[in-house]
Amino acid sequence: MSLDTGNGQAVDRDKVVRFHEVSFYFCDLPDDDTGEIEAAGTVNQVFTQLDLELPSGMLSVVGENGIGKSTLLMLAGARLIPTNGRVTLFGRDTNEFAEAHQRPELEEERNRLVSVIYQNMEFETNESIGTLLEAVAEMGNFGGSSDEFLSELRSALELDPVLNKRMQELSKGQLQRAVIAFSLLYGSHLVIMDEPVFALEQPQKERTFEYLLDYSRRSGTSIYYSAHDLDLTQKYSDTMLLLQKNDAPLIGPTSQIYTRDNLEQAFQAPLDTLYRRDYLYREMLMHTLKR
Ligand SMILES: Nc1ncnc2c1ncn2[C@@H]1O[C@H](COP(=O)(O)OP(=O)(O)OP(=O)(O)O)[C@@H](O)[C@H]1O
Ligand SMILES: [Mg+2]
Repeated sequence: MSLDTGNGQAVDRDKVVRFHEVSFYFCDLPDDDTGEIEAAGTVNQVFTQLDLELPSGMLSVVGENGIGKSTLLMLAGARLIPTNGRVTLFGRDTNEFAEAHQRPELEEERNRLVSVIYQNMEFETNESIGTLLEAVAEMGNFGGSSDEFLSELRSALELDPVLNKRMQELSKGQLQRAVIAFSLLYGSHLVIMDEPVFALEQPQKERTFEYLLDYSRRSGTSIYYSAHDLDLTQKYSDTMLLLQKNDAPLIGPTSQIYTRDNLEQAFQAPLDTLYRRDYLYREMLMHTLKR
């Protein structure tokens, strides 16, 4: 299947993201920015010569804290640019979008291809959720009736009770559901979600992900996400990418990757303690956000 990527070229929709020998490091440059890595305060190398092909569909990124899930998702979503090597998104080098934050038309072009839900998001607006949803639906790119899709999302993401509220008035879980609705309404070909449901109660997480998987299959929209809830990543993904500390990542159909051996190897821990960690991680995030 092909689609217009914004520069008039039709490319293969299945070639969603490729990493070509990608290295990435964060570094705090000193004030007199000499541009030399050796002069940098701290250099944190997250990926070295990473080669990966990420397919269409629903993909979960799994791995221990600090392994690089968010960094990888931001590289795939053209929000971070590789230090070396390149990432292609529907065939386009993400380096083309390096200046997106300074050029609104480039930013929109990028966002049409890929939108991103960050691990922690803050909003400053006085508009109600209902008004914001309608505004995003109007600029949406999903094809078909925006009214129908909007009411489908309101029901699937249980947003009716909060339509008159402002972002600042929402609980963390309500905010997460609203943000998911915005991202789907915008209609990018790929939607990246970094820990999108950690604040939701378990049954609500399940309902949300059931909907996302169904939506991804119906619409052909690819959804890449990270979640610490291992059960969730197993149940709701076509493909799993498992990041490992001392080895290349494992990627493949979820049923093949999600095995006790692979998980214990990647996390260097027995499986039953991993489930306990899910819970602790959620508690920690909720606590941090309340402060
Ligand atoms: N802005 C930054 N500056 C410097 N180092 C960073 C920055 N963001 C992340 N890192 C480091 O990069 C590595 C990968 O971080 P990343 O946030 O991608 O991990 P993660 O797998 O998403 O973790 P978590 O499970 O906590 O969400 C970590 O060692 C982290 O300390
Ligand atoms: Mg993260």
